[in-house]
Amino acid sequence: MKQVLTKSTEETRELARQFACSLKHGDCVALIGSLGSGKTEFTRGITDVFNCTEQLTSPTFTILNIYNGSRSGETFTIHHFDWYRLNSPEELYNIGFEEYLYGNGVSVIEWADKFPDLVPKTAKRIELHRSTESERLITFAQSFPLR
Ligand SMILES: Nc1ncnc2c1ncn2[C@@H]1O[C@H](COP(=O)(O)OP(=O)(O)OP(=O)(O)O)[C@@H](O)[C@H]1O
Ligand SMILES: [Mg+2]
Repeated sequence: MKQVLTKSTEETRELARQFACSLKHGDCVALIGSLGSGKTEFTRGITDVFNCTEQLTSPTFTILNIYNGSRSGETFTIHHFDWYRLNSPEELYNIGFEEYLYGNGVSVIEWADKFPDLVPKTAKRIELHRSTESERLITFAQSFPLR
């Protein structure tokens, strides 16, 4: 387990960039933390590394945003989920979410703890905690099930 205290939005994004360098096709990142804890900022660091040109928006009102990117010449699709407003897993099954989570590319799930049973067992679990207005304690767990 690794813990980092970031002191600004930029530090969180930089931490995410370092983390994203080791992501591989098929990896899933499960982000867990309350409102405003920095999950979307962390995701921005990930899309930076994959040179996603499209501006990342908070997917709060959509279940999934898809970004096309590349890293070292290799193309990657980033699947950015936000489960905050999901009421039931049905909505995820309706969009065929498993194909995104278990297919090629990298998936990021905000509010992954809402439906722990639907998170791939190999997901990289990252917890974000708002310590103060500008500080976030970010904990990287080993890959292990959320449940
Ligand atoms: N150290 C920090 N790391 C990340 N964000 C920070 C930090 N300090 C302040 N902030 C601010 O906190 C906010 C984090 O917002 P963000 O949208 O990333 O949260 P979120 O976890 O995605 O929330 P939500 O659950 O609503 O989607 C931003 O306004 C950001 O500028
Ligand atoms: Mg968010």
